[in-house]
Amino acid sequence: MRATLSLFKSVTILGSSGNIGQPLSLAMVQSPHVTDLRLYDRSDASGIAADLSHMPVPVRVRGFGPRDLDKALKGADLVLIPAGLSRKPGMTRDDLFNTNALTVEELTLGVAQYAPNAIIGLITNPLNSMISVAAETLRRKGVFDPRKLLGVTALDVIRARTFLSNMVGINASELRVPLIGGHSGQTIVPLFSQSGIALSAQQIEFLTHRVRRGGDDVVRAKAGAGSASLTMAYASAKWSASVLRALKGDRGMVECSLVKSPLMEPKVEFFASLIALGTEGVERVLPLPPLSPYEEEQLDRCLPDLEMNIRKGVEFVASRQQQ
Ligand code: LMR
Repeated sequence: MRATLSLFKSVTILGSSGNIGQPLSLAMVQSPHVTDLRLYDRSDASGIAADLSHMPVPVRVRGFGPRDLDKALKGADLVLIPAGLSRKPGMTRDDLFNTNALTVEELTLGVAQYAPNAIIGLITNPLNSMISVAAETLRRKGVFDPRKLLGVTALDVIRARTFLSNMVGINASELRVPLIGGHSGQTIVPLFSQSGIALSAQQIEFLTHRVRRGGDDVVRAKAGAGSASLTMAYASAKWSASVLRALKGDRGMVECSLVKSPLMEPKVEFFASLIALGTEGVERVLPLPPLSPYEEEQLDRCLPDLEMNIRKGVEFVASRQQQ
């Protein structure tokens, strides 16, 4: 089985000239798991590609603009979508919905047409709603495969490990903190009880709020110049490495991601948790570990928000069909 899998892996980044797209392109061109990198942006990514193509790496890099979405996508194994606006101080992720839903719809239609078998790593905010915009758009085109659509929640996982590391003085690379729920305020539910570190109730509450607030802190610090883009790119590149390794046949790749999940059905269709990755994308949604009473309470509070966010995406696509 393994011998038949191609080690040649083609990745497309849709929105590669943006605040996340540029550092993500820089990270992906250095990935040992990528052989072909295609950069697409509405504003034409040829310049970014020309810039990166001077790096001494064994990756073919090409840039494309709006007239070449087909060339950017055909044959891609993994399509990363960081495209869209980022928020400014005072905005919530949900305030980006109207603009970014149109972008995600347009790009997902492109994936449906030119790369229906690719794995999609969706990064665009508000992620909890964009996941259903993408899913419904793919469904509309008859190509929705739940194994192949994943929302990237890796940034929250990185934050949880970093903040725990800062608190307890253990190297973050040795810490594991799974994350469940979604990617917005109350829907971000880090499971510090699973870290194996003895923490007080106050410490857990502090860390949970710090992870939830992480995006807001960066938005405030950037003072109008956008939101977290560098760590988002770092986290997404790490997540992509696991996906690509799994596509190549490596076993044991597990990442937290927002996917169509049986765990909270019928309350919510999409739910973030630990996912075992395989040669087709999602191989298995892993069962939830035992939750502490605090985490149970956070999960209960997360679900109504998550359900509302997902419904908003579904309703958006339904309204577009009526137009
Ligand atoms: C983050 O968590 O940093 C990102 O979702 C960007 C944002 O708007 O907060």
